[in-house]
Amino acid sequence: MNMVLNDDIAVKVEKLEKRFGEFTAVNRISFEVRKGEVFGFLGPNGAGKSTTIKMLCGILTPTSGSGSVGGYDINRQQELIKQNIGYMSQRFSLYEDLTVEENIDFYCGIYSVPRELRRERKDWVIRMAGIEPFRTHLTGTISGGWKQRLALGCALIHQPRIVFLDEPTSGVDPIARNNFWSLIKEMAGQGTTVFVTTHYMDEAENCDRLALIYRGDIIAMGRPLELKKECMRETVLRISVPEPEEWIEELEKLESVKEAALFGVMLHAIVKDAQQAKSDIIGLFSRRGVRDYAIEKITASLEDVFVSLIESYDTREGANCGFKKG
Ligand SMILES: Nc1ncnc2c1ncn2[C@@H]1O[C@H](COP(=O)(O)OP(=O)(O)OP(=O)(O)O)[C@@H](O)[C@H]1O
Ligand SMILES: [Mg+2]
Repeated sequence: MNMVLNDDIAVKVEKLEKRFGEFTAVNRISFEVRKGEVFGFLGPNGAGKSTTIKMLCGILTPTSGSGSVGGYDINRQQELIKQNIGYMSQRFSLYEDLTVEENIDFYCGIYSVPRELRRERKDWVIRMAGIEPFRTHLTGTISGGWKQRLALGCALIHQPRIVFLDEPTSGVDPIARNNFWSLIKEMAGQGTTVFVTTHYMDEAENCDRLALIYRGDIIAMGRPLELKKECMRETVLRISVPEPEEWIEELEKLESVKEAALFGVMLHAIVKDAQQAKSDIIGLFSRRGVRDYAIEKITASLEDVFVSLIESYDTREGANCGFKKG
């Protein structure tokens, strides 16, 4: 039985599980990705990102659970999925000993691009990736950033409506990464759904929605701003005071301050209750006759949020943010 799909949904999985022997790599995860969305799948090494992507792309068969991609069933219509999506794998997506053009031709074949369209699509890839000067170069000799763009072009050669990118920018310099993200956003703007894995937090900020996967579980899901607002259990106060390093120990003695640390010339205090902590700190400074200080509540970065969620997961407080466990 095929799943009945809401028109707006590009990817949907329910209780998707993958075990390798006794080991559970993906633990009954559920989520949906809407059409035209840039959906980021974040997690540390070994979290289960590639395993999930491979199940969605029809390369790995799930141990249990159900799902659909572009309306096709991930358990029964794997061949149809492969023809209808674009997939840029974490490794080996290009042949280094073929020229740039030969790689494009190869992917035209893999994705069965009709003969009469091949020339046009090849020109499109070359233009989109900006690799005109390297057409006849061996792929192994072009730089990492150009390779990534070529690989993206190859994954898009048959104009798929959904594209899966597994760590597309790993090992690429920040400028090439930025250019790459401009391409991704352009694609999404034209209605393509983008499912992308990364462990770069600054890239995660570019996604419409994120899922954080850790040890096979999705431990948080939401828009980047929502995650920063709602999942951070603690608040960060930034304190400017003369000789900040002298104050770390004193601040940590306050009941309302969990932790204090030096960040450049400022202090960051991690607190549960910002109001309470602020008044305690003001009290401390005034008792010591310090007047020249400033205290400001700052927004936690995505990195702060994820570190905090992973810590709560490991200490089994059970982080649970923006999602319900299946
Ligand atoms: N074919 C396999 N057989 C056994 N274990 C596997 C297999 N493939 C993956 N695993 C294990 O499953 C876990 C998840 O792997 P996966 O490749 O999905 O992680 P990832 O999140 O993509 O990590 P990375 O960021 O390093 O790419 C890892 O512990 C990995 O060793
Ligand atoms: Mg991986």
